[in-house]
Amino acid sequence: MANLFITGGGGFIGSHTTLCLLEAGHSVVVLDSFVNSELEALRRVARLAHLPPWTSPSPGIWQSLGTSAGLTVVEGDVRRPADVERAMALRPVGAVLHFAGLKALAESIREPLLYWDVNVHGSRCLLEAMRRHDCRVLIFSSSATLYGYPESLPISESAPVRPLHPYGHTKAAVEQLLADVAASEPGWRIARLRYFNPVGAHPSGSIGEDPHGEPTNLFPIIGQVAVGKRACLPVFGDDWPTVDGSGVRDYIHVMDLAEGHRSALNHLLHSDSDTLLTLNLGTGQGISVLQMLQAYRDASGREIPHAVLPRREGDAASSVADPALAKRHLGWSTRRTLTDMCRDGWRWQSANPRGYGGGQATDTPLSPP
Ligand code: WQD
Repeated sequence: MANLFITGGGGFIGSHTTLCLLEAGHSVVVLDSFVNSELEALRRVARLAHLPPWTSPSPGIWQSLGTSAGLTVVEGDVRRPADVERAMALRPVGAVLHFAGLKALAESIREPLLYWDVNVHGSRCLLEAMRRHDCRVLIFSSSATLYGYPESLPISESAPVRPLHPYGHTKAAVEQLLADVAASEPGWRIARLRYFNPVGAHPSGSIGEDPHGEPTNLFPIIGQVAVGKRACLPVFGDDWPTVDGSGVRDYIHVMDLAEGHRSALNHLLHSDSDTLLTLNLGTGQGISVLQMLQAYRDASGREIPHAVLPRREGDAASSVADPALAKRHLGWSTRRTLTDMCRDGWRWQSANPRGYGGGQATDTPLSPP
């Protein structure tokens, strides 16, 4: 087992991956600014991992330490060296998982300086801290968005990187930085994991996606209509060249994604074959907006009204992963179904209609199915 350092561990993918790694017996230090996440998510992660109650040894630090695995949370910003140092000094770091970053496309177009600061400068600060602490094993949260408009489907890792917006540009820039660092000196072992469309929630319904502000992604918006927070789902175009005219994406259950990170970590820690690994994490199956909508109606029993609107600027008709490389290198592939995604997403949404901030009494894990 290893001492892991996870930036952004309070976020949607970060919290589910932190839980998966705690359950695998690792100890984790999370550094999170909570600008787009909640400490409550990590409190619930500790409970799901059956760790003892929180203690708070000093301001901005929370601990839940078991006899072997343990979780320590440090409130801080990856761009502030003093914050990173405060967290990294707590225990020797065996590997880093880097989730901290901004990921809203439209916001990135309005705020490119903010996105380049957080996503790129933040990654540079983290890498410098890793070198100071003699840690050279890193998993980076990348995104399929850097492929832009795919030339062919399914999309393999050799497809051209042609991002369409500042968010995608920053992901591509950090990937290039990581390639340069991996080539600069021996000892670096880096995995760049390109996520397709993460959805769903932990089967307990205790943790899930809780976007700050108005979500723009399909799955949380469907959930908000289902639970009554929104009146109607806008469907952006029904005239795409797809199975039913609506957009097609490769939706991956967040628990499959978390397990993909566990497999990538095991690979980096226990085999010396790759210094720089780039992998698509997806199912290889395309699901249309209307198919997702019907699956969510079936899972929730809710009507979920929808209305067809014109296409959204910047959308592609279809985006589907070729997941063969991850299967070959990691022995990992997804195993959860569209029904699992909608059942688990609905359980989280209906038990926590106002996300973590709602103070619901449902932090006690529901019995998984
Ligand atoms: C999916 C489909 C929309 C909302 C983005 C980022 C990507 C990743 C996931 C971070 C499309 C349609 C959506 C709605 C709709 N994030 N849609 N009505 O755009 O594939 O990917 O989020 O890494 O990087 O690019 O996801 O969920 O926004 O859209 O009809 O209200 O749903 O047109 O076809 P997308 P999405």
